[in-house]
Amino acid sequence: MSRLAVLVPGGRGQLGSELTRILAARAGSLVHAPGSGELDITDGEEVTDAVDSFAEAARDAELRPVVINPAAYTAVDAAESDPDRARRINVDGAAALAKACRNSGLPLVHVSTDYVFPGDADRPYEPTDVTGPRTVYGRTKLEGEHAVLESGARVWVVRTAWVYGARGGNFVKSMARLSRERDSLSVVDDQVGSPTWAADLAHGLLELAEKVVRRQGPEQKVLHCTNSGQASWYEFARAIFAHLGLEEARLQPCTTADFPRPAPRPAYSVLSDAAWRQAGLTPLRPWREALAAAFETDGEALRGE
Ligand SMILES: NC(=O)c1ccc[n+]([C@@H]2O[C@H](COP(=O)([O-])OP(=O)(O)OC[C@H]3O[C@@H](n4cnc5c(N)ncnc54)[C@H](OP(=O)(O)O)[C@@H]3O)[C@@H](O)[C@H]2O)c1
Repeated sequence: MSRLAVLVPGGRGQLGSELTRILAARAGSLVHAPGSGELDITDGEEVTDAVDSFAEAARDAELRPVVINPAAYTAVDAAESDPDRARRINVDGAAALAKACRNSGLPLVHVSTDYVFPGDADRPYEPTDVTGPRTVYGRTKLEGEHAVLESGARVWVVRTAWVYGARGGNFVKSMARLSRERDSLSVVDDQVGSPTWAADLAHGLLELAEKVVRRQGPEQKVLHCTNSGQASWYEFARAIFAHLGLEEARLQPCTTADFPRPAPRPAYSVLSDAAWRQAGLTPLRPWREALAAAFETDGEALRGE
C-alpha cells in the first residue's frame, strides 16, 4: 500500500467524513479534509493556495499526494430554484480544483452521480452510455465532469448513487426518523437504484487513488462505483426497517406520481461496475451486506439516537 496524502475538499459531508475516518486510522497516511468554511472550491485563489501547499507538505513528508473531491451542491430539489449556485459549485468549483491539480501535478479523483443519466434504461448504465440529465443537479454535475476531464489534469471521474452514511442527512436516517413520527409510511416502489454505504465507496475510491498515485490509473477515465445489486426505495426501506427491528407491514409501496417533487427522479439508475472490474478494482459488496455492516458500525448515528 502506498503512503497516501489525500486532500478532501467538502471533507465534512457524508463521503468526505468516511474518507477521513478511514485515512485517519491508516498508519503512515495523511488526510486533510477541510469543510466548506475552510476551503471554498468556488474561490479560485483559495483553491490554488490549498492545493499548492498540500502538494508541498505531502512531498516534504515523502507521501504520494492525490485529491479526492466529494464537494458538491447536493440538494437535488433546491437546485431547481437555485441553478446559479449549483453551477458555481458543481461546475466552476470542480473546474477550479482540476486546474489547481493540473498546475501542481496532483491527480484528481472527482465524484459524480447517476443523475447524469435520464433514468429510462432497462439494464445497468455503463460509463460510456449516452447521458441525459433531467435535473439542474444532474446537468451541473455532468458539466462538472466535462470541465474536469477537459482540464488537462490527471483526472478520474467516479459516478455513484444512493449514498448513505453516519454523517449528514440520507434515506436511512429519514426512514428511522419517520418511523418515530408516523404509524405507517408510503415509500416509492417504481424507482430503482443501488443503495451505497459511504464507507464502502470511500474504500473503493482509495483503492483507485492507490493505483493513480503509482501511475497505474485505469485508461478509462469515467468509472462507476456503487454497492452491487439493486432495489426500489420501498425494498430499501423494508431492509432498513428490518435492521431497526420494526414491522415491515408499516410500509406501503407507492408510485412516483404519488410524490411529485421539484426535481424529477430517475426511474432506473443502476450503474454497471463492469469498467470498475476491468480496471482491476474490487467490486463493492451487495448492498444488503453493506447495510448490515453500516448498522453494525454506525447503528446509533443511523437510528438518529
Ligand atoms: N448522496 C448521494 O446519494 C449521492 C449520490 C450520487 C452521487 N453523489 C455525489 O457524491 C459526492 C459526495 O456526496 P455526499 O453525499 O457526501 O454529499 P454531502 O454530504 O452533501 O457533502 C458534500 C459536501 O460538499 C460541501 N460543499 C458544498 N459547497 C462547497 C464549496 N463551495 N466548497 C467546498 N465544499 C463545499 C458541503 O459542505 P457544506 O455542507 O458546508 O455546504 C458538504 O460537506 C458528491 O459529489 C455528490 O454529487 C452523492
